[in-house]
Parts: sequence; structure tokens; C-alpha cells
Amino acid sequence: MQLFSSSPPFCAALHSDFGLVLIPILVLLGLFVLQWRHPRFDRRLPPGSMGWPYFGETFELYTENPNSFFTVRQKRYGSIFKTHVLGCPCVMITSPEAAKMVLVSRAHLFKPTYPRGKERMIGPEAIFFHQGAYHSKLKKLVQASLLPSAIKGSVSEIEQIVLSLLPTWKNNTINTLQEMKRYAFDVAMISVLGNKRDIEVEGIKHLYHSIEKGYNSMALDLPGTPFHKAMKARKLLNKALRGLIQKRRESGDAQSGGLLQELLRAKDQKLNLNLSDSQIADNIIGVIFAAHDTTASVLTWLLKYLHDNDDLLESVTREQEGIQRKMLNEKRGFTWDDTRRMPLTNRVIQETLRTASILSFTFREAVEDVEFEGYFIPRGWKVLPLFRSIHHCADFFPQPEKFDPSRFEVPPRPNTYMPFGNGVHSCPGNELARLEMLILLHHLTTTYRWHLMGDDDGIQYGPFPVPKQGLPIKVTLKNKNRT
Ligand code: HEM
Repeated sequence: MQLFSSSPPFCAALHSDFGLVLIPILVLLGLFVLQWRHPRFDRRLPPGSMGWPYFGETFELYTENPNSFFTVRQKRYGSIFKTHVLGCPCVMITSPEAAKMVLVSRAHLFKPTYPRGKERMIGPEAIFFHQGAYHSKLKKLVQASLLPSAIKGSVSEIEQIVLSLLPTWKNNTINTLQEMKRYAFDVAMISVLGNKRDIEVEGIKHLYHSIEKGYNSMALDLPGTPFHKAMKARKLLNKALRGLIQKRRESGDAQSGGLLQELLRAKDQKLNLNLSDSQIADNIIGVIFAAHDTTASVLTWLLKYLHDNDDLLESVTREQEGIQRKMLNEKRGFTWDDTRRMPLTNRVIQETLRTASILSFTFREAVEDVEFEGYFIPRGWKVLPLFRSIHHCADFFPQPEKFDPSRFEVPPRPNTYMPFGNGVHSCPGNELARLEMLILLHHLTTTYRWHLMGDDDGIQYGPFPVPKQGLPIKVTLKNKNRT
């Protein structure tokens, strides 16, 4: 009996000692949680929940369906609300006017901001992390390399990539996202390094893939961690790129094309910008990152939406077969001008960009205290314009969950359609991304059909929202009599 019954005086002593320690801890914890949930400022913060201490609402953001995460909060708190994600206090904004204020009209008050680990891995001198003169000079160079006049020359190279990729899918089950990543990566390499096949390019590709493996891991720079391995590969990539830069500087090769050529010529372009090798390397790596997963994720959604909308797939095929006949008659390959003769396919891409909204939001940081619509945004807080919420708002896009390319027969209202962002940091790669999608769709729809092999629905993050498991599909030759 004694074994199982504790003596009351002993218990009381234990409780009182433990209580002495526990009660203040609980009080402090309670105060901390209270302060966390209701941060105190003498001006009015937007409504909203800061979630769990430290973690905030990060878990919910990356596990719930992105549409419902934003809609639930928007309904509960209105078009501007606070939250805490990825370790930062944030204000999320869901109206086109507010997004315009942050990205365009008062953009100087909101600087772009990225997690420190990502900045270290891409390289601190890359365009995304900057504001002001350095940014605008760089932007001119990046834009110059991606203008239609510059990318027109790469159409046949891109078509060759498609023509060697698609036959490897025939009669096979493929992971769409992974295949699209391969494609988008090869196109990104052309866009940054040009069409020239230097021996160094293979090594650069290999190192980039090693970095990618650690890019979305926790930024823990300790031996053995994926982040540490990626940082080691990053140093080697820097060395390899600097070798290539040196070689191109010495050869004075002005015809190599791509972003590298623009960056090397920076000092001759009255921009008063003499870029060091490491600044060039950071921007080359940065643009590959910006071009690669984004385009691959959108292409994956394109295949899903076309698969789910049979009639639309047949109409797109008819449009593309018209182009194919023209190409055969004129005995030529795909040209830039062909991309301007595909209104339906272009609308399908527009609607995919809206529906999928793979960049659900972007991050900015208030550089000073800002008053907005009667609310106070403290300096240092992140401000997130929610592209996804605007793209899924029934006021601007009736029946927003319906995949309906015909809605783009009339242009959307200003500031309501921003798949490529808005303002000074908007995407310079939009024309290239569209071109890649059009060339792939042309050859895919005219020659092949695909069937989903996994679940029909569901989303995963890879790192952008994509169909579950990267959309496994079985690809077969199209029945020629079908259309
Ligand atoms: C469908 C594919 C793509 C989508 C949806 C996309 C989307 C975006 C968005 C929304 C931004 C603005 C981010 C912000 O304001 O914080 C952006 C910026 C950027 N994108 Fe894209 N992008 C795509 C493809 C590309 C491609 C193919 C390239 C280059 C070859 C590229 C290069 C860039 C660069 C360099 C920036 C930074 C611009 C700056 O900071 O001034 N993107 N992109």
C-alpha cells in the first residue's frame, strides 16, 4: 500500500515548491502570448490573428488550400489584416488599390525583402534585393536581354529543346513538374548565357542543381545540412561563372547573346555602372532562379487545366493545327510571329496564370511607419499584396473558380491582374515565359494526349503551389482522326 500512496505532507511540499516556479512561468508565458497576439502600438493595427508564438500562422499558410487560407481571413477581418508568417509580423492586403499603393504609387516606402538564407544563396547583389539607382540600372540591362527583339532569336533553339524533350515522354508516365523544370531550366540557361555552347556550361548546370536541393531547406549552415551543401555548391558555382565571365571578357565576344552579354556591356551603355564579376554572377544565378520553377509550375497547371477541359483542349488543338499547316506550307519551323496568331492559346495561358496564381503574394517591408486606410503599419513589418485573392475576387473575375479563358476577351480592370507583379519590380521575363509555354503547347497539342495517373485534385508546394505529386501523367500519341 505504501508503495502506491504518496504521503500528503511530501506532496504538499512538492506542489508548493513547484508552484513557486511554475506560476510565474505561466504568468510570463500568458503575458507573452497576450503581447504576441495583440502587439501594442499607440496607433490602430489592422485586425487579424498573429497565430502561435514564433510559428504564427505559417503552418496553416503552407498546409491549407491557399484559396481558403486567404478567403477565410478576408471574410473575417476585411481587405487588410495582420498575421505572422515565416517568423515575421505581416500585413496582408487584398484590394487592387492597396496593392497598387504598395507596389507602384508609394513603392519607395516598401522595400523588397527575402529571407536571409535565400539572399545568401542567390547572391546579395542580385536584382530582387535592391531599390533605387542600382536596381533601376540593372533592370534596364535585364529587360534589354528579355525584350521580344532579343528573345525572337532564340525561338528555334527553344523549339529544338521541345522537339528533343517530347519524344522522351511518348508512352511513358512522367512527373509533369519535374519534366517542366528540365525544360524551363534549359530555356533559362539560353536566356542568361546565350546560345553559345561553352564547355563550362555543363559544369554550371550541375552546380546549380546541387544548390537547388538545399534552396528550400532550413537555413542551417552546419556541416552535413542540405543548406551547408548548397552553400558549398554556391561557392563553386561562383568560381565557375567567374571563369566563364573572364573568358567572355577576354574574347570580347559581343555576339554570345543572353543576359551575360548585356551585363558585360553595362559600362559601355551610359549607365555609369561597372559591374564586378561577382555582381554579374549573382544576377545570372538570380535570373535562373526567377525563371525556372515559376515557368515550370505554370506549365504543369496548363496541362492539368487542359486535361480537365476537353472541349478547350480540342479548340486549342485546332488553333495550333492551323499554325502547323501554315508552317508546313511555308516549309519552316515555328517563328515569333506565329505566337501572335494564337488568341485562344494565349487566353488559356492568361487564365492559367490567374487561376493558379503560383505567386500567391509577394513580400515587401515597410521602411518607415505607414498610415493606410486608417490603419497603422509599423516600420519593419512585412506587407504582402495578395495577388491570389485579387485574382479570385468575384467582383473582378465572376465565378472565379471556373476555368474560363473567354473572360480575357475583354481586358481585366486595371490593377486586378498581376501574375507578373506590378511596378518597378514587375517581372521582366513575362514574354519569355509566354513564348516557352506557346512553343511547348504547339508541339504537345498537335502530336500528343495525356492522362492523369494520380489523384485528380489536391495541391502541394514545390515551392509554388502545384498539382499533387507534380501531376503524374501518361503521354501517348494523339489519335490523328480525332480532330
Ligand atoms: C510564368 C512564369 C513567371 C511568373 C509567374 C513570374 C512572376 C514574377 C513576379 C510576380 C515578379 C515580381 C515579384 C515582386 O514584385 O516581388 C517577378 C519578378 C522577376 N522575374 Fe519573373 N516570373 C516568371 C518568369 C520569369 C522568367 C522566365 C524570368 C527571366 C528569364 C523572370 C525574371 C524575373 C526577375 C529578374 C524578376 C525581378 C525583377 C525586379 O526585381 O525588378 N521571371 N516574376
